[in-house]
Amino acid sequence: MPFRGLHGLDVRGKRVLVREDLNVPLRDGAIADYTRVDAAIATLRLLHAGGARTIVLSHLGRPDGHADPRLSLAPLAPALAARLGFPVAFARDCVGEAAQTAVAALHDGDVLLLENVRFHPGEERNDPQFAAALARLGDLYVNDAFGTAHRAHASTEGVAHLLPAYAGLLMEAELAALERLTRDPAEPFVCAIGGAKVKDKIGVFTHLMEHVTSFCVGGGMANTFLAARGIDVGTSLRDDDLQPARTIDALATAKGVRLHLPTDAVVAPRFDADADAHVVPIGAIGDAMILDIGPQTAAAYADVLVRARTIVFNGPMGVYEKPAYQNGTRTIGAAIARATAAGAVSVVGGGDAAAAAHLLGFADSVTHVSTGGGATLEFLEGRVLPGVAALET
Ligand code: 3PG
Repeated sequence: MPFRGLHGLDVRGKRVLVREDLNVPLRDGAIADYTRVDAAIATLRLLHAGGARTIVLSHLGRPDGHADPRLSLAPLAPALAARLGFPVAFARDCVGEAAQTAVAALHDGDVLLLENVRFHPGEERNDPQFAAALARLGDLYVNDAFGTAHRAHASTEGVAHLLPAYAGLLMEAELAALERLTRDPAEPFVCAIGGAKVKDKIGVFTHLMEHVTSFCVGGGMANTFLAARGIDVGTSLRDDDLQPARTIDALATAKGVRLHLPTDAVVAPRFDADADAHVVPIGAIGDAMILDIGPQTAAAYADVLVRARTIVFNGPMGVYEKPAYQNGTRTIGAAIARATAAGAVSVVGGGDAAAAAHLLGFADSVTHVSTGGGATLEFLEGRVLPGVAALET
């Protein structure tokens, strides 16, 4: 997709409005994960080095158009400052007098963070007046918020039409990594896909079906595929409607794409009965609940993945947060790491995939970990992301 990037751009003395995705998880008011803060730094550092007057926009949570002090971006300013190594100013509103005064006080190289754009109803409505109020603060606009690129909001879409617009370094890196998956990927191309429900991933299956050699299916959605093939999955989580799984299964057969399903599973009598977790073959689940793929399945999936040349990891194989059910995701993570070390391109993205890769220690051994949740899923569904489309030249 053709868009302008930041390299070679003269930003000295210019007011650069940068949309980042600083929508970090909070626990008891504190930042619980810094991945998105870290990911924003490259662009901010480049603009600082170039002498720009940088004005950072972001949302945090879903305050629904009202100021909610629990969702203030104020704690993000010191977090950014700690990484950048210089102070980051904060303005208590993203438009109006508070924002204008703070912008007017900037010197070349300074960075200012504005308050949560979603405190204003105009943000999510993509209101032209709100977008214009944001645009008045800057000379240039940079969208680095890949994680929010699936939203057509004022700060991600509307403002891009009002100022010269550029993609930030994170946005460029995300798109380059994700586009490698669908633009002439080296084969075999394997998608390890998990998560709770088939119905949430119909679009991903359908789009990737055009590109992949095989899917290795785990998580709750594997139970739905098994049930759709007439296998009793006991009390396991599964979709009530088996039709989407049947349709995807039939499509895979028609296209010659292998859809690998578990042959054994780690089960327990209940979700909270970890001490009773044990391995059974598929077909002997009884009244139990499947909570991870079994060791035989994990080894088979690892064998497929280790020989892959392109990999996308799109969801854990089991309840990866609990030690009793980590083996499946850990084993395939190790296989993805080995394949990557041998030259494969591997991307982790969408929903819980990145969290699982971080927790189980393979995030640093893959080619790219996407910062996007919904945005990455929509990209993998082949959808146009409005925040990206608005940057097109
Ligand atoms: C995300 O966390 O996926 C993005 O920041 C978008 O947030 P939203 O789902 O509240 O629009």
